[in-house]
This record gives sequence, structure tokens and C-alpha cells, in this order.
Amino acid sequence: MGSSSPARTVWVEVQPRRYPVIIHPGGLASLGAILAEHLKAPRAFLITDRNVGLLYADQAAAALREAGFEPTVFAVEPGESSKSLQTAGRIYDALAAAKIDRACPAVSLGGGVVGDLTGFVAATWLRGIPFAQCSTTVEANVDASVGGKTAVNHASGKNMIGAFYQPQFVLIDPDTLRTLSERDYRAGLAESIKHAVVRDADFFDWHERHADEIRTCQVDCLPELFERNVRVKAEIVAQDEREITGLRALLNFGHTVGHAIESAMARRGRPWRHGEAVAAGMVAAAEIAVAAGRLDRAAAERIVELIRRVGLPIAAPLADAHDELWRLIEADKKVSAGRLRFVLADAIGRARLYDDVQHPWIQAGIARAVG
Ligand SMILES: NC(=O)c1ccc[n+]([C@@H]2O[C@H](COP(=O)([O-])OP(=O)(O)OC[C@H]3O[C@@H](n4cnc5c(N)ncnc54)[C@H](O)[C@@H]3O)[C@@H](O)[C@H]2O)c1
Ligand SMILES: [Zn+2]
Repeated sequence: MGSSSPARTVWVEVQPRRYPVIIHPGGLASLGAILAEHLKAPRAFLITDRNVGLLYADQAAAALREAGFEPTVFAVEPGESSKSLQTAGRIYDALAAAKIDRACPAVSLGGGVVGDLTGFVAATWLRGIPFAQCSTTVEANVDASVGGKTAVNHASGKNMIGAFYQPQFVLIDPDTLRTLSERDYRAGLAESIKHAVVRDADFFDWHERHADEIRTCQVDCLPELFERNVRVKAEIVAQDEREITGLRALLNFGHTVGHAIESAMARRGRPWRHGEAVAAGMVAAAEIAVAAGRLDRAAAERIVELIRRVGLPIAAPLADAHDELWRLIEADKKVSAGRLRFVLADAIGRARLYDDVQHPWIQAGIARAVG
């Protein structure tokens, strides 16, 4: 598959205007042309990280230049620590130096870290400049590219400072995944399974039929994988952009126990990728739903088996950590003011928010997800 493959476009219906997610193998070469369809400006500010920048910044900058935008490239350190006010501050300095006025776009080139950071800077510089996103990880393609959440982290927690700010468009070039590490590639698949379990039984079946191709990053299956993920998330975001009705909260499936596992592994100096923790967190959520009598055992085992087949962990090496995980889950509850709310699946493709989840059910979930 190469640049001759046709583009697929999914529209995300949000305020103040809808935007397209364009999935196009080889599409990076058209970044400038796509941007020119959306706006006219003399300059564009490209934000990437050093890993992605080394691989793709020259190509992206050339594409921008060809379409009449004078590019400035700014590369941050790879990793979560770049999602900070400090990094944002350095970018503001560079935006000023590059004379980025209100007409000029900020363009992200990278994964969720660069996307969240660029969106935040674009939302705040001059009270908002145009923003476009070129995403290069599975996590960003299936999740972070849709919904307009932008943020940097604060000492008190992740994503504490941010804004809803929608891009002009998102470009997903699946060919860029060839250079992504196997670990990062697989971690992103957890969110894809999440979307299927929460909202789309047919998409879950599709994962089962293609699990081996998905696990091994066979490029032929990737455009459909991304298109269907973007459709699921776009449909939810269009109905509940600001997380008011509870619909968007369904996307937290697997994340309550998942976040606890992520924290516990980090504390042990063996950090897991977010998606790995979510994978085990979804195993816990499936077990909790069975204990609650809401999901049948066979469906829960299908979820666990799919997670395993795409190469994700179904349990974390935290056998000694039941109490610690429980405390971390309880702490999460305080953040959401009061009740312990859990997203559980009643069936594959149908999740709901429950606030009556009992302690022993959660214990059963934790027991299953640590080994
Ligand atoms: N805004 C949202 O709705 C949303 C949703 C999910 C996650 N996120 C955020 O996304 C972030 C995680 O994103 P991520 O998993 O993409 O991590 P990331 O952006 O850190 O990328 C992971 C690693 O892969 C490298 N990389 C990226 N693309 C590459 C490529 N094509 N080839 C080679 N290396 C490449 C990066 O340099 C980095 O080292 C978190 O900060 C999370 O909060 C946001
Ligand atoms: Zn997640």
C-alpha cells in the first residue's frame, strides 16, 4: 500500500464547526496541500518531538513549503514530560520569534503528546490560532485525534491545564506506523478494543477476524481500523462534546482499574504504557461486570482473549498490590466527587455507567487483572 491508496474521510461534528479526519497512506506528502484547502497564511509552525522529527519533519516541512507556507520546525523532547507549561512557554517564545500571527496555523506532527501540546498552544496563543494535527501513533490515530481535548500536565495531575479546541483537520498517514516501536504500536490497540466493546459489536467481530494482522501491523488492515475507530469516537463526541450527558464518559471503559495499574507500575520503576494498563483494566472491568451479573462469562472471555491475541497484557505483575490498587481506585473516586462510577459492558458493543458497583465485585476484577 502506498500513496496511490485513496483517502478515507470521517467528519467529526463538533462546535463551532465540523472537521475532517483524513486517513491516507502516504498522505504526509500532501500535508501542505490539505492545509492550503483550509486556510491561507504566509507561515506555518510545525511542532514535533525529536524522534518523529528526525524521521518525518523534513518531509512535512517540504510539503508545507511546496504549498506556499514558510515552515518553522520546533522539536520537543519525546515523552510525557514535554506536556508541560514549561515546554509551552518555550514554544510561545518561538512563536513570537517566528511571527506567528492569528492567520498562521500550528501543525502537530507526532503522537498524543505532541498533539495535546500543540493543541494547547494553538488554543492559547493570541487567544487561538488555527490548528492542524498530523498524527503518527496508534493511540493518537484511534483516540487523541478526535474530540478536541488539548492539555498540558500539572504537578497535581495529568491534563490539568487545557482547553477544548478543535483542529481544522486531522491527517492520519498509516505508513508512518512502520517506524513506531512494537510496544507503542500494540499499546494503542487497547483503545481500539475499548471502542469496539463500548459501542460496536460488529467492529469487535472484525477485530477477532483480523487479530493476527492487527497484532503484526499489516498495513492493509490499518485504514479500516482507524476509520472505524474515528467513527465510533466521533459519534460519541458529537453527542457529548463536553462530557455532560455521561455518554463520553463511556470511553473510560477499562480506565478506572487501568489508571491504578499505570500508577502502581510507575511507582515500581517499571512504567507501563497507558494502553497496556488499560488492557489489563478492561480485563478487570469485564470480570467486574460478570461478578455484577451484567455480562455473561462467555462474552467476558471473548474480550480477554482478543486483548491477548493482539499482543497486549491481560494481567499486571502486581500480585502483591491488591490494597494499593484499591486505594488508588478510591482516590480516583474523590476526584469525581462522591460515588465510585464504573463503566461496565452489559454485552459486547454496549457499555453503561454504573454507580452501584459493590466492593467485592471490584475485588474480583482486581484479582483477575493482577497476576
Ligand atoms: N486528547 C485526547 O483526547 C487524548 C486521548 C488519548 C491520549 N491522549 C494523550 O496522548 C498521550 C500519549 O500519546 P502517544 O501514546 O501517542 O505517545 P507519544 O506521543 O509520547 O508517542 C509515543 C512514542 O512514540 C514516538 N513516535 C511517535 N510516532 C512515531 C513514529 N511514527 N515512528 C517512530 N516513533 C514515533 C514518540 O517519539 C514517543 O517516543 C498522553 O499524553 C495522553 O494523555 C490524549
Ligand atoms: Zn486511554
